[in-house]
Amino acid sequence: MNAHTAAAKLEREFAFNDKHFELLRVCVREHTGIALSDGKRELVYGRLSRRLRNLGIDNFDAYCSLITAGDKEEIGHFVNAITTNLTAFFRESHHFDRLAALLPRLIEMNQGTRRLRLWSAGCSTGEEAYSIAITVREAIGDPPGWDVKVLATDIDSNVLAAAANGVYHPQRADGLSRERLSRWFLRGQGKNAGTLRVVPDLQDLITFRQLNLMQPWPLRGPFDVLFCRNVVIYFGKETQRMLFNRFADVLAPGGHLFIGHSESLFKVSERFKLLGKTAYQRIS
Ligand SMILES: C[S@@+](CC[C@H](N)C(=O)[O-])C[C@H]1O[C@@H](n2cnc3c(N)ncnc32)[C@H](O)[C@@H]1O
Repeated sequence: MNAHTAAAKLEREFAFNDKHFELLRVCVREHTGIALSDGKRELVYGRLSRRLRNLGIDNFDAYCSLITAGDKEEIGHFVNAITTNLTAFFRESHHFDRLAALLPRLIEMNQGTRRLRLWSAGCSTGEEAYSIAITVREAIGDPPGWDVKVLATDIDSNVLAAAANGVYHPQRADGLSRERLSRWFLRGQGKNAGTLRVVPDLQDLITFRQLNLMQPWPLRGPFDVLFCRNVVIYFGKETQRMLFNRFADVLAPGGHLFIGHSESLFKVSERFKLLGKTAYQRIS
């Protein structure tokens, strides 16, 4: 045990041992696909201690029993506590430049169906989905007679509620140009004073839904474009293989996939070809 772990142990409010961590780690994996490394021990303790306090439980044995018994409500809180939700508007902006260039081509290709589907899988608090919606409106407007929809999903009910709400602290929009700010955001009124709210037109384009990527997906493809960025980085390789196979299945032939800057399909899936920096196209 190093000095840091020893100090953490001394200061702990609740006893937390290897058995608790192992059991919770298995449950996290089962419910979310997230593979927690040994280094995540303190993070798990910290995030779940808050749950113990909220529940008025004074030990991890009792909390583990609740989770292993399958208490549905608590499992929801447990999952929300464990997920990492870091995101930003136009994060990895090169993906949106590529999307903007691609959209007019998709409009040509889909003339037959006049339908366009985009999916932000693991959308967190919504910045990614709104960035997609802004890119759609800026690149192709609102083409008459077309059915254009963005689906935005996440396992975490808290972030999803924030995403659907579409109200942000102005700091969240720091990197956006003035033109984008004035075109796509409104100054919050009343209880939302001092905040930014995305314009209803963008919200109308997006459907927010809770969806666990590890479970069956009650959705209708095919999708033309799929963003799943900075999500699989937390999954093991086998889980990634299974997931990208399913993504290929719901993408249209030739459909486009964007993944996070530190993610790769190398030795994970052969159903995509790399087009450029973490941008892929379905080939089979
Ligand atoms: C770091 S955020 C990435 C947000 C956004 N895609 C981006 O790149 O900015 C990862 C998101 O994946 C979600 N997530 C983790 N496991 C999931 C699962 N099994 N099903 C659906 N979403 C999941 C988390 O709740 C979290 O909001």
